[in-house]
Amino acid sequence: MTGAGVSAESGVATFRDSGGLWKQIDPMKVATPEAFEADPRFVWEWYDKRRTQLKDCSPNPGHYAVAAMEKAKDDGFFLLTQNVDDLHERAGSLRLAHIHGKIYEVQCLQEGVIREDRRAPLPELPPRCPNCGAMERPNVVWFGEQIDQNAVLATESFLSQGEVDVVFVIGTEASFGYIIDWAQRARHPKGALIEVNPGRTTLTPYADLHLQGKSGEILPLLTQNL
Ligand code: APR
Repeated sequence: MTGAGVSAESGVATFRDSGGLWKQIDPMKVATPEAFEADPRFVWEWYDKRRTQLKDCSPNPGHYAVAAMEKAKDDGFFLLTQNVDDLHERAGSLRLAHIHGKIYEVQCLQEGVIREDRRAPLPELPPRCPNCGAMERPNVVWFGEQIDQNAVLATESFLSQGEVDVVFVIGTEASFGYIIDWAQRARHPKGALIEVNPGRTTLTPYADLHLQGKSGEILPLLTQNL
């Protein structure tokens, strides 16, 4: 399970760290349906800036280590990420789900159709549906919205195969109960719940092991003998 911290060493801003996005702007102004309704252009300018900045970022050794775990374990591996960036995919991860959506996807407000649009900056803000011309929104989960149900189904389907030996929770404050819940449910009673994070978080008390440090430095050490 990963959060914004796994992308920090790629130069992608986290949310709640010092200097994080929510320290720069009130999330209620850019990450709620009401904010979008009130000023779609303002919200899109914020996402367009993040989409453009992300283009210059590359996966870091932590992303590649997670992809190596998947390669070693195949269908015994599953990655649930809260991140909307595409760095896990660009590092080779295939067995993953984005519980908070994807920043390079947009959704037509009229038809509900979701499409990928990697142009950054976008030629016009807000973007328009190529099919019907209606306004499109970022395909990300905003505060007050339901988390991505396809990602929930993928996660529950993986958990239905049985508990796992090792659950890694990497680079997240674990601000949301469902993250802690899934981490605990996934762990086999004789398994290990391992947190990789420079700091302590809401999850730390539940972890069997807290590997204190940067994921880009710690994860490659764990996977070098895979
Ligand atoms: N390696 C590992 N962890 C790191 C690193 C690093 N190099 N740098 C920072 N971290 C940790 C921080 O200590 C913090 O615990 O990453 C975590 C980032 O926490 P947040 O910024 O709160 O990000 P996240 O937990 O992913 O937020 C979850 O909140 O607002 C929503 O949708 C947003 O998906 C996001 C969700």
